[in-house]
Amino acid sequence: MHSERGVHADSTRAVTGATASEKAPHDVPARKRPQGRAPSFKSVALALCSVLASARALGEDPNASVAIEPRRVSIPLGLASPLPIPADNPLFPEKIALGRKLFFDPILSRNGSVSCSSCHLPEHGFGGDGPLPTGIDGGKGRRNAPSLLNRAYAQSLFWDGRVPTLEVQALEPIRNPTEMGASVEEVVKRLRTNRDYSQAFAAVFEDGVSPQNIAKAMASFERTLLTGHSAVDRFRNGDVSALTDSARHGLWLFESRGLCWKCHSGRNFTDEKFHNTGVSWGKAPLDLGRFEVSGKEEDRGRFKTPTLRQAARTAPYMHDGSLATLREVVEFYNHGGTSNPNLDPIMRPLNLSENDIRSLVSFLESLTGKVEAGADGATEENP
Ligand code: HEC
Ligand code: HEC
Repeated sequence: MHSERGVHADSTRAVTGATASEKAPHDVPARKRPQGRAPSFKSVALALCSVLASARALGEDPNASVAIEPRRVSIPLGLASPLPIPADNPLFPEKIALGRKLFFDPILSRNGSVSCSSCHLPEHGFGGDGPLPTGIDGGKGRRNAPSLLNRAYAQSLFWDGRVPTLEVQALEPIRNPTEMGASVEEVVKRLRTNRDYSQAFAAVFEDGVSPQNIAKAMASFERTLLTGHSAVDRFRNGDVSALTDSARHGLWLFESRGLCWKCHSGRNFTDEKFHNTGVSWGKAPLDLGRFEVSGKEEDRGRFKTPTLRQAARTAPYMHDGSLATLREVVEFYNHGGTSNPNLDPIMRPLNLSENDIRSLVSFLESLTGKVEAGADGATEENP
């Protein structure tokens, strides 16, 4: 990884909602920074490779942080650049670090027993480790906990797309009775009376701890959970030796008569749309997916297409965790999914041979790249 953390002469260029006339944050004297809050510059540079000084965020403390220019966040090979970052929530090193702390802290749950990472495990591509997650007081969720990687590119969140942004999503698990079972007011109160947190929030946000700021910090951390640079990306980038013959055949099938590309399209292997492949059909209780949000008949049994990156680590699969292995997934598609009145017209039996099935599995396994994980330099190497 290269490290390009210098603050350059052109760094006053406005990026996210600020004007060029604003003072570059690095011009602010160090003594104006809150006491004891050394900027975690080095650590962020490690994780994101390039940190550029830039503008301040409207409504946020200009003295505390150095915004990271979206174009300069190091994007792993294969992913789209720049990273989409909303204008009202620019990425700041301290904000990412705060979001990371919150993500791994059970303080957000009613009785201090569950953190976001209880269900979104780093070693499982930030997804769950079983079919359905267990939340507070042993409560069972009804859907599989999805991977949080590359969600910076999301167009909607949850399997049924019921929330539009990471910011809106972030408070949902806190008040979900089967996940963290708290109330947002209660959590805000708790964080305000916690010295570490009240200081960390004050260093990033002018108005300190608030529901909105919890959401902004959490979303910022999640935006840095990126994965690319897989063998498939290296192959597509010209390194023909990156894939085995079998994985290459799998890639070819994926892009041709396997029909996978029709839904798992683009750089993140998802069209971010909703399809009925029949996974939930005939099961009780019936999960109608997107229909529950839109009420439209055509959405019955449709679920959001997930990314395939890191699929080797995110077993079990599908919104209900009903398929245990990648081989089972490929066999499911080979049968044309589960027949039902609203099955996506793209779905049909594929007549794949045993060799084809194995090849598709090795292709999927070749989508396991490095995981970039937030602001502390934590980088999981592909074993
Ligand atoms: C008890 C387990 C559990 C906990 C705790 C939990 N989640 Fe989740 N998470 C899930 C499940 C299950 C889903 C999918 C639910 C659905 O689609 O209806 C999900 C979905 C998500 C999504 C949507 C991903 C996508 O691609 O659609 C995000 C983002 C997310 N969680 C972030 C968080 C954050 C942040 C926290 C902590 C504040 C958290 N989760 C805590 C189980 C959990
Ligand atoms: C018609 C659109 C469509 C096609 C074609 C398609 N998929 Fe999917 N894929 C989806 C959707 C939607 C889901 C989630 C379904 C659910 O959970 O109900 C999914 C889920 C998956 C998953 C599970 C990922 C996870 O994290 O749970 C894998 C792996 C997968 N597909 C691989 C493939 C492969 C390989 C092919 C080609 C043989 C393929 N898909 C063809 C839409 C499609």
